[in-house]
Amino acid sequence: MAPVPSSEQQTGNGSVAALKNRIGNPSNPFYSPSLGDDNDAGYKYAGYKPSFPKVDWEPLQEIAVQDRGAFADPEKKALFSAAGKVKHLTPIIGTEITGIDLRQLTDAQKDELALLVAERGVVFFRDQEISIHEQLELARHWGPLHKHATTPVPKEPGLEEVHIVYNDASRRPDPTAFSKVDLWHSDVTYELQPPCTTSLKVITGPEYGGDTLWSSGYALYSSFSPGFQKYLEGLTALHSAVAQADGARAAGLHVRREPIESIHPVVRVHPVTGWKSVYVNPGFTRRIIGVPKAESDAVLQILFNTIANNVDHQVRFKWEENSIAFWDNRIVTHSATFDFWPNTRHALRATPHGERPESVADYEARTGKVAKDRQIDLWEKAGVELPEYRKTSLVRGYND
Ligand code: SIN
Repeated sequence: MAPVPSSEQQTGNGSVAALKNRIGNPSNPFYSPSLGDDNDAGYKYAGYKPSFPKVDWEPLQEIAVQDRGAFADPEKKALFSAAGKVKHLTPIIGTEITGIDLRQLTDAQKDELALLVAERGVVFFRDQEISIHEQLELARHWGPLHKHATTPVPKEPGLEEVHIVYNDASRRPDPTAFSKVDLWHSDVTYELQPPCTTSLKVITGPEYGGDTLWSSGYALYSSFSPGFQKYLEGLTALHSAVAQADGARAAGLHVRREPIESIHPVVRVHPVTGWKSVYVNPGFTRRIIGVPKAESDAVLQILFNTIANNVDHQVRFKWEENSIAFWDNRIVTHSATFDFWPNTRHALRATPHGERPESVADYEARTGKVAKDRQIDLWEKAGVELPEYRKTSLVRGYND
């Protein structure tokens, strides 16, 4: 087993030890420069253990993407008729489906799954034999695959599009490096075209622990008053890959593509559901553009704290080996738990690019439609009376 940094080395945010802890982050507050190779003999997934190839990639170029959910049957008959059970885990977010073998999905079912994920935020399946090659192929149905500039890729060649999540006894979590709020993130939001329907399969995991939580950006938007919603809709924010690249370099690792910073709308609209979602996250959003710093800090703080603290917006998934989650990174944030050390947890992610995030104004100008507040839309469709504070919209012309 590789040596674990002593507690003196783990001196908190800003220290080199803390920077090293950002490897694979914000989802991974563990550090070990070792790749944990000691126990590889006989490990059936040794080929999928982490490696950091010294290769250089060009900056990403803007690419055309078409959301497959737009082609789906809104009733999702092909997917649901093949399923055993479709169970919503909370009213706001998360659905578990049984009776489907993901290797057998037709294109129509893949489109419907994308739409379901866009509506429910995250969808879970258990006991899935799908291989990583098949998982990548499925993800490609939804968009061209992202290659991560810093996090490990499998030792097996040809799998550079895979993002590995790997922790074992050699990687003790360092609670001095991160608050639990810091760990909430949406994947690589600093990219010009951050991911859409993303999948993670746990191939080796602890008997218990290592759960992942997701929080709904739609619900975050819905939770605010009309005046604050309108204010947020006019804002943009900076998302940065710099800290992640600095952390990799501080740990002596090769950064395969230079870090990028992008400015995205604080409220984006999902291109298929037309629902508005707050699009900031503690992992990568650094500041609101064009407002005083104190205001930016205060606004981000309320958004980050609500993501982490409002349990009504969250779903928590207990993984088993061969469980797989599909989440729409455009409209949810997520956070892993790190309570399972010294056990091993090994998971593989496929991450298709989505469109460039679209603001409410741009969505409405492009489509001629009115972007909606998910909760109000669902209440109106169900004939439910709106709460007092939402009855009088402060926003002229809005009918959502
Ligand atoms: C991720 O952030 O993509 C991985 C989450 C997890 O390890 O559960």
